Amino acid sequence: MQHDSHGLPISTSSAEAAAAFGRTVESYLKARVDLRDHLSAMLKADPEFGFAQCLKGYFVMLLDKQAAVPVAAEAAKAARRLSANATTREKMHIDALDAWTAGDLRRALAVWEEILLAHPTDVLAFRFAHYKYFWTGRVRDMLASVERIAPKWSRELPGYGPMQGCRCFAHEETGDYAVAEAAGREAIEIDPADLWAAHGVAHVMEMQGRSRDGIAWLSGLERHWEPGNQLRHHLWWHRALYHFEQREFDEVLALYDRQFRNLGSPLTQSQPDYIIDIQNAASMLFRLERQGVDVAGRWTEIADKAEQRIGDCLSAFTLPHWMMALAAAGRDDAARRMLDGMRAFGDGTTSTAPDVREIALPVSQAVLAHRHGDYVKALDLMRPILPDTQRLGGSHAQHDVLRQVFLDCAMRAGRDDDIRLVLGLAARFPAPVEQRVGYAEAARRLSH
Ligand SMILES: [Fe+2]
Repeated sequence: MQHDSHGLPISTSSAEAAAAFGRTVESYLKARVDLRDHLSAMLKADPEFGFAQCLKGYFVMLLDKQAAVPVAAEAAKAARRLSANATTREKMHIDALDAWTAGDLRRALAVWEEILLAHPTDVLAFRFAHYKYFWTGRVRDMLASVERIAPKWSRELPGYGPMQGCRCFAHEETGDYAVAEAAGREAIEIDPADLWAAHGVAHVMEMQGRSRDGIAWLSGLERHWEPGNQLRHHLWWHRALYHFEQREFDEVLALYDRQFRNLGSPLTQSQPDYIIDIQNAASMLFRLERQGVDVAGRWTEIADKAEQRIGDCLSAFTLPHWMMALAAAGRDDAARRMLDGMRAFGDGTTSTAPDVREIALPVSQAVLAHRHGDYVKALDLMRPILPDTQRLGGSHAQHDVLRQVFLDCAMRAGRDDDIRLVLGLAARFPAPVEQRVGYAEAARRLSH
């Protein structure tokens, strides 16, 4: 029996496997691209280490890709088969992975919380819970989860910085920007290469309309991102959002091509249809087109990937983004098949099914109707659920693009009541709507 860096027992007798376990967890917490190497080294060092198989399954599930689920389910089976000497905590992790692969995220989250009650420094249970609360729209639970464990952590513990990075993001998404920024800055003081902490503070600045601060913040940290995974792309997307708010659209497109949707980069080529990369790209193209910017043929490759993912609804928030690409590329037949896929998934029993059926489907139908110029239909589809789109997971900054879909329809349809509705929702955040690029014209229109 070895122990992890928090003193928790892990059921391997191999010191080499235990060391690789530590490196794997650290790489995950720091959002680094070398995670796969450390995971492979751990699996190789002790092929009988069941918990290592469980980790493999977890990381495969993080892709949010239907085609990858059988690989994760196999890893869960292997973990179970090798769990004769596993600790109770490790077996609970396998339970959580089983639930996750079966589409029962509510159960997976409950198991992670149960683990944390007994082991508040189980950084894997904590970090997976944080991530999945976020991606299921449960931001209050995301906040409660981190605040339950925070008092049990000291600055000396490995992972303390990443834990503060999570506190930062949880407070930001629940509107406490001062606490959020302080926590994020503390994490960056500990490690300037902490991408999630850099990201949390970037969100604070985005929501407060501090574009220049945001550019300075991210440009001061970007030299640390080289070892980073795709979260790096998302940070560049945030930087592009600031430039967008400054109406620096050429810079936005340059960042699109060179940084967050660089199709030639090894990182993009390793996962060309990675969901957050797709969200970044599609939402930015949509924003730019609304401002009259010609985005040339950039929708095409996203539409190609969207066709390959028809029927895959694991990432509910990505669905309207796939639809933006199919609609923009004029692929109506594929768009219809994607909607059929959502209906079929929505009839299922997974914990994501109601969100796909009740939110992602009408929003995606509205995205298609918007592209067809059927603005009233799009408004009717989105109006009942507009305040609830966060059930799909994703941040306030990301959901802004869905509000802009609705606003664009309302403007084009000349519906002042709908403009008022969506401006009211956007005004819940501190950046004044009349100063925001996507909203200024609408705000002017209502003030006359
Ligand atoms: Fe973000």
